[in-house]
Amino acid sequence: MHLQTLLFNINNGIATVTINRPDKLNALNAQAKSELRDVFTQIKTDSNVNVVILTGAGEKAFVAGTDIKELTLLNSETGKEFSAKGQEVFDLIENLGKPMIAAVNGYALGGGCELALACHVRIASENAKFGQPEVNLGIIPGYGGTQRLARLIGRGRAMELILTGNQIDAQEALRVGLVNKVVPQADLMGAAIAMAEQIASKGQIAIRMALKAVNMTQETTLSDGQQLEASLFGVCCDSEDFKEGTAAFLEKRKPAFKSK
Ligand code: COA
Repeated sequence: MHLQTLLFNINNGIATVTINRPDKLNALNAQAKSELRDVFTQIKTDSNVNVVILTGAGEKAFVAGTDIKELTLLNSETGKEFSAKGQEVFDLIENLGKPMIAAVNGYALGGGCELALACHVRIASENAKFGQPEVNLGIIPGYGGTQRLARLIGRGRAMELILTGNQIDAQEALRVGLVNKVVPQADLMGAAIAMAEQIASKGQIAIRMALKAVNMTQETTLSDGQQLEASLFGVCCDSEDFKEGTAAFLEKRKPAFKSK
């Protein structure tokens, strides 16, 4: 796959996808969104990949938003389509079936904040800044931000960020639950890789069932969610990993999962 705006590599079951337009603070242009779709479509079915890390090139930005140059000609019809197409790419990421860790290495604004929100876990460097500044441009978040941000940090806090367009720093993002962890910038990729390796060392059937069950909380009632949980729990119980994990505990040894 020839990529112009992304870097992509796979190492020991961990894929790293880097948005690579540092001179534009990794702003998402049409090319970047199309390449994200292509790369994640491939990763979804690639049995060599268990966990994915998503980050931005350089030390200044994760992603400073969608490319504002490409917004200027939108009208009600093309704007709706623009938003829906972006949502599709971010939905693909959220529903990849493999854990996605956002390593947020600087500005995560607008579509950049929404991209981090579509990931399952967010680790931020100390210089990271988060915000939904779309109202400054006369628009609203259009890649799922109004929905995912409110679900993650609560409606009141999401409202404040979206209505004011204010940015918050990494420590405030940690305090409100927007990120899982804050580390010095030099340690960011190390922290992301350590978490990815920890997840990759588990039986991947349980990991995928857990992702599915927790993702479902975005959409469902407690009772429907629990029904799904019970079904997915049952799927795990049919796996070789389940037999291996329980046997290893009882035999006081480390499990050797085969993700079967
Ligand atoms: N779309 C297009 N280009 C962008 C961009 C975006 N979202 N964010 C940054 N860039 C470009 C700048 O135009 C500039 O390009 P140039 O060198 O060709 O002029 C380059 O990236 C560097 O950005 P600059 O603004 O000079 O850096 P800064 O350190 O002064 O400011 C920000 C950093 C993030 C505060 C500022 O770039 C910004 O506000 N960006 C837009 C954020 C936004 O509104 N995102 C939501 C879009 S829906």
